[in-house]
Amino acid sequence: MSMHGNEAEQALTEQVVARFANTSDARLRTLMQSLVRHLHAFVSEVELTEAEWFAAIRFLTETGQMCDGVVRQEFILLSDTLGVSMLVDAINHRYATGATDTTVFGPFYIEGMPERVYGENMAFTPGVPAIVHGRVLTTEGAPVANALLDVWQTAENGMYSGQDTEQPHGNLRGRYRTDAEGRYAIRTIVPVCYPIPTDGPVGRMLEATGRHPWRPAHLHFMITAPGHSTLVTHLFNRHDPYLDSDAVFGVKPSLQVDYCERAAGDANAQQFGFEGGFREACYDFVLERA
Ligand code: BEZ
Ligand code: FE
Repeated sequence: MSMHGNEAEQALTEQVVARFANTSDARLRTLMQSLVRHLHAFVSEVELTEAEWFAAIRFLTETGQMCDGVVRQEFILLSDTLGVSMLVDAINHRYATGATDTTVFGPFYIEGMPERVYGENMAFTPGVPAIVHGRVLTTEGAPVANALLDVWQTAENGMYSGQDTEQPHGNLRGRYRTDAEGRYAIRTIVPVCYPIPTDGPVGRMLEATGRHPWRPAHLHFMITAPGHSTLVTHLFNRHDPYLDSDAVFGVKPSLQVDYCERAAGDANAQQFGFEGGFREACYDFVLERA
């Protein structure tokens, strides 16, 4: 490459950056100018070909076309598989507050799922029966009464209700509230590992780069309570084979739980209405004051 070519390329970058100089919103100016610099640096570093540029345009176009406005959000999937979602998570939770660790929201949350009472079963499809219970606490260790736990997980076929239209409405989804002592209890099935959707451009990217699409088994939580920051997190099954290679980089050591085997006659069996053996996972969540 001639020195002349290189200089012209740098001059172009500076010209584009300068074109944003009059952006009145200072934050938007920072975002746009930095985006241009990094995007240009990337294109220069890899010496992008015209065919590659066109392939990238096609890829992003298909990513948008794959979104259905309900449960399929291919851009979130792209952000997740490139580690961008977890980088944003890390930057926004840099300082230890004593609150429970956060992780990716993912694209499969649905608003307005049924409100369920303490210990109510949310599983209408087969699986290993389980109870997940514990408390919601403040960073000082006081119980948070009336916190809302919005929870969602896949069925044993690896699909979420809504995504899989065969499943009954609200299957493996629900909104639970803590009692006066901050306690919650969710009757469900043990989560299973599952692949993120691979029938779109993100799946092709994983395939082309030799990456697997699997997420370790987990239960999603979004926990809200007045006066506290919203907590978006998961509980992962300890010992899942994909804990070290989550396709979306969401695993944190503090978010792993054991689903312990319990016999029909064990302490909590009667309270939660189990007729045979079941699994029990216990976890206390800690919310940061808003
Ligand atoms: C999920 O856990 O639901 C999920 C997260 C990121 C990408 C795809 C799915
Ligand atoms: Fe999930």
